[in-house]
Amino acid sequence: MSNSIAFDQAADYYDQTRAVPPEVEAQGVAAIAEALGLDEGMRVLEAGVGTGRWAIPLAGHGYRYHGVDLAMPMLRKLVGKQQPDEHPIILTQGDITSLPYRDGSFAGVLVVHVFHLVPNYRQAIA
Ligand SMILES: C[S@@+](CC[C@H](N)C(=O)[O-])C[C@H]1O[C@@H](n2cnc3c(N)ncnc32)[C@H](O)[C@@H]1O
Repeated sequence: MSNSIAFDQAADYYDQTRAVPPEVEAQGVAAIAEALGLDEGMRVLEAGVGTGRWAIPLAGHGYRYHGVDLAMPMLRKLVGKQQPDEHPIILTQGDITSLPYRDGSFAGVLVVHVFHLVPNYRQAIA
């Protein structure tokens, strides 16, 4: 059982309280993609992916995008927001302090607004 703060209760209002204007989202996505410095087809993991606020637009860059989150309601929201013609995001319910992937599985990892919720965040970074 994780001692992190999951967002099971926040799924229904999360996007209304965290939304960013479209032009800010576009700037954020461009900055993150530049920082990742990855080509299309490369595997990216977003740890604490939530409702896909960044995942959905970033997956549009053609990455093989994976997301992991403790909260199934947040993951369900993400799935509900995706359009059939958008790039798929491969989702896993799990704890970022014990990721279910082999070392070196991803070319890049993104974490946004998550470590403050995870007492053992150093384990997640490791
Ligand atoms: C503030 S939200 C951020 C979501 C997304 N990164 C964003 O920027 O919109 C934090 C997310 O981290 C998840 N979370 C918290 N602790 C976690 C853990 N140990 N493992 C996986 N997900 C976790 C929560 O369930 C929640 O969906």
